[in-house]
Amino acid sequence: MDYQVIIPAAGSGKRMGAGRNKLFLEINGRPVINYTLDVFASDPECKNMILVIRRGDESQFRKLLADHPGKHKIKWVYGGQERQHSVYNGLKAADGQIILVHDGARPFIRLHTIHLLVEAAYKGGAAIAAVPVKDTIKRAERGQVVETVKRTGLWQVQTPQAFRLPILTEAHEQAKAQNYLGTDEASLVERIGQTVKIIESDYDNIKLTTPEDLYFAEAIFAKRKN
Ligand code: CTP
Ligand code: MG
Repeated sequence: MDYQVIIPAAGSGKRMGAGRNKLFLEINGRPVINYTLDVFASDPECKNMILVIRRGDESQFRKLLADHPGKHKIKWVYGGQERQHSVYNGLKAADGQIILVHDGARPFIRLHTIHLLVEAAYKGGAAIAAVPVKDTIKRAERGQVVETVKRTGLWQVQTPQAFRLPILTEAHEQAKAQNYLGTDEASLVERIGQTVKIIESDYDNIKLTTPEDLYFAEAIFAKRKN
């Protein structure tokens, strides 16, 4: 089934500490963002990629897109202060029935997961990729444990997140009107009463966030090549 994808890539990569957008850092000699774009470029069901970029990064993206095999279906728009604002700007350029949002910083997403999400969003309105929490989770206040949280039913949420387009649009408009800032798209659609289905994803669908994630990324890349 056809879909479009918004790829937020307009961050500054503060936690990575590279002094520039982390999406231009390289895994095996190619920028991180190229791998993310490759996945959607290779999928005939992905009709349109909306890349959200930061002011100042245009020339680097222009250069990178010039050689990219998916360039005919990529358009770019400018991002905003927070990730949510960037996705909102991307939404303005979207149409069709199903829209995905996928972080530029998650280069190892599998097509299999994407297709399960698209199907689930078509059926139920909203679906997110996630993996079961592996660690013991505790809640603390001022450095003291208050509670050991039961792990049953806890999920670590990733992207892609997939929606029927009118649902995500309404959720974003309401969040904007109410000045609500969420950490993912699903939190916005949950607020308008929409149910969200979980699609179990892979632990290696990592987001490159801090410097050691680059080591993990090299290892995942090496494993995938075999
Ligand atoms: N992003 C965006 N617009 C923003 C902030 C983030 O499009 N205003 C994008 C990033 O480029 C990234 C994704 O959202 O692909 C996930 O965000 P995150 O991992 O937090 O990246 P950064 O915001 O760049 O990193 P940091 O929070 O460490 O500064
Ligand atoms: Mg950020």
